[in-house]
Amino acid sequence: MKAIVVTDQAAGTAGMTLVERPEPEPAINDVIVQVHASGFVPTEMEWPSTWTDRLGRDRTPSIPGHELAGVVSALGYGTTGLSVGQRVFGLTDWTRDGTLAERVAVEARNLAPLPGDVDFTVGASLPISGLTAWQGLFDHGRLKAGQSVLVHGAAGAVGAMVTQLAHEFGAYVIGTGRAADRQKALDFGAQEFVDLGNDVLEDVGGVDLVFDVIGGDIGKRSAGMVRPGGTLVSVVGPPEARPADGLAIDFVVEADRAQLGEIVRRVRDGRLRTNIGTVATLDDAVAALNPTERATGKTIISVRP
Ligand SMILES: NC(=O)c1ccc[n+]([C@@H]2O[C@H](COP(=O)([O-])OP(=O)(O)OC[C@H]3O[C@@H](n4cnc5c(N)ncnc54)[C@H](OP(=O)(O)O)[C@@H]3O)[C@@H](O)[C@H]2O)c1
Repeated sequence: MKAIVVTDQAAGTAGMTLVERPEPEPAINDVIVQVHASGFVPTEMEWPSTWTDRLGRDRTPSIPGHELAGVVSALGYGTTGLSVGQRVFGLTDWTRDGTLAERVAVEARNLAPLPGDVDFTVGASLPISGLTAWQGLFDHGRLKAGQSVLVHGAAGAVGAMVTQLAHEFGAYVIGTGRAADRQKALDFGAQEFVDLGNDVLEDVGGVDLVFDVIGGDIGKRSAGMVRPGGTLVSVVGPPEARPADGLAIDFVVEADRAQLGEIVRRVRDGRLRTNIGTVATLDDAVAALNPTERATGKTIISVRP
């Protein structure tokens, strides 16, 4: 089958190549999915799991991409809950070959049914950003209606989902990002926007929840803005500073079929919009994933147009 592989960590996304790879074999409780569309997170080349397996062994050449929408083409031994021919979407294991390929082996429990009226391209854009937003706001951030949320990178893939879900839940949303992202963040439901290049972040005052996708100095300064009893949620590693009288949490998104169902339900009824930028074929994926200009929105690879 055709797949994108990486072999050299130092080369980053520039080291991606389109090659022929052996067909994936389904393990116990796996399905094989015929990939129709694949999502990719730009920082994947920095994740240890892209290069080594759970025992720390080199697993190159590895196939990146860990979210997909597609059709189940085979079942592994003992697999229940999904059937051949079913449309699915979801998250794949970080330490196994991923979704920038014509087919992938995935544990069935990592996937959810994709309704027939949701495009594969849309389906592939939801798992990582949607689940990260859901888990950060509700499981870890324990958001309550009426609370204020500072959403960094509010026009990005994760931030757009956080902004919309928090807004729907009845929170007051303050988005941040580049100057050019102001209108996009407001359109996704932010009530205020902070241009991190020109405005003073601290002028926002205290907030109940910070959702940090940037880290570094922005993350550190945000800790000081959390009100007593509030929470700083980071998806970019352990926070370098903690709220004086609140919680600091960092987490990595997990597969969750029920939450995927909640997310796709909102996409179907119009409560949630995806944030897709470029859509490219697998043949054009290397160029699309190495943009020469600033990319806005998620790049989706349409593997089976
Ligand atoms: N822990 C987890 O489970 C998990 C899950 C998903 C994602 N992540 C991580 O979360 C981060 C964001 O992912 P994403 O897919 O949402 O990326 P993305 O689509 O690139 O969104 C990030 C947004 O933040 C903006 N931004 C970044 N640094 C900024 C700065 N200093 N000032 C102003 N704006 C800034 C970006 O603008 P520019 O594009 O102009 O920089 C972009 O709009 C990545 O590091 C990713 O690895 C973690």
